[in-house]
Amino acid sequence: MSQDPFAELKTRQREMWASFGPTALFTTPVAAHLVKFAEIGAGESVLDVGTGTGVVAITAARAGARVTALDLTPDLLEQARENARIVQREDIVWTEGDAEQLPYADASFDVVLSQFGHMFAPRPDMAVAEMRRVLKPNGRIAFATWPPEHLVGRMFALVGRHSPPPPPGASPPPQWGIPATITERLGARFDAAFFERGTMTVPALSVAHYRLFMERSVGPMQKLVESLARETRRLEAVRAEFDALVAPYYFDNVVHQSYLLTRAQARS
Ligand SMILES: C[S@@+](CC[C@H](N)C(=O)[O-])C[C@H]1O[C@@H](n2cnc3c(N)ncnc32)[C@H](O)[C@@H]1O
Repeated sequence: MSQDPFAELKTRQREMWASFGPTALFTTPVAAHLVKFAEIGAGESVLDVGTGTGVVAITAARAGARVTALDLTPDLLEQARENARIVQREDIVWTEGDAEQLPYADASFDVVLSQFGHMFAPRPDMAVAEMRRVLKPNGRIAFATWPPEHLVGRMFALVGRHSPPPPPGASPPPQWGIPATITERLGARFDAAFFERGTMTVPALSVAHYRLFMERSVGPMQKLVESLARETRRLEAVRAEFDALVAPYYFDNVVHQSYLLTRAQARS
């Protein structure tokens, strides 16, 4: 029997993220930003946590790194393997696993990356401890997260308002987008963090097109809409709330999703 109090949440996450594949088209440019920001060098050993379809892992491999990548969701890892086959990077090691319990020896990697991945682990302290444990002395961590005050963070809050509460003790993912919180979480294990911001752009013909795309490809939105399938009025109200939230971020046929990048060096 599993000892993990969040085993059920993680089973739900595994199902929820399985439809994420089409969204990776838009996270691909962010992967280039993160890999550059992390200053990945040729020959470095890199771990990508929450790799999804492998956009960061493959970008880091193309920069010359030796890459291992981990994700909770087997369907996405299958797509990641296919992506690696297409670019002939079959040396990347893909692992099904959990950010809170990394299946690697201590001090295995020069760099640990995570793009919108480790932020979904319910216990930030465990994710940080694990990412630090597998880093070599003076290794570095670099990750992309969604701040709570920008579109995606606010979207998570909207979904949260209309969904059953998460299990007690699960930390809201967008907390990982607050520099002061990140500094506190990295604590004494890392030197002072360096931050940078960027915007992920999602082309769409209208806010309604964007909403439909999100409902089909982004697990938390998809689950919310499924849960309201028999409550037409509530579903309409939630969709109207969503459209109003997105409207200011939609211009020039593009939805603008701001993210935060963090980089920090491990203390030995
Ligand atoms: C928003 S997607 C990001 C995927 C990819 N990094 C990208 O940028 O395209 C979130 C990913 O985190 C993974 N994930 C969620 N919780 C996780 C956990 N506890 N451990 C490992 N991966 C997790 C999901 O399966 C999913 O692939």
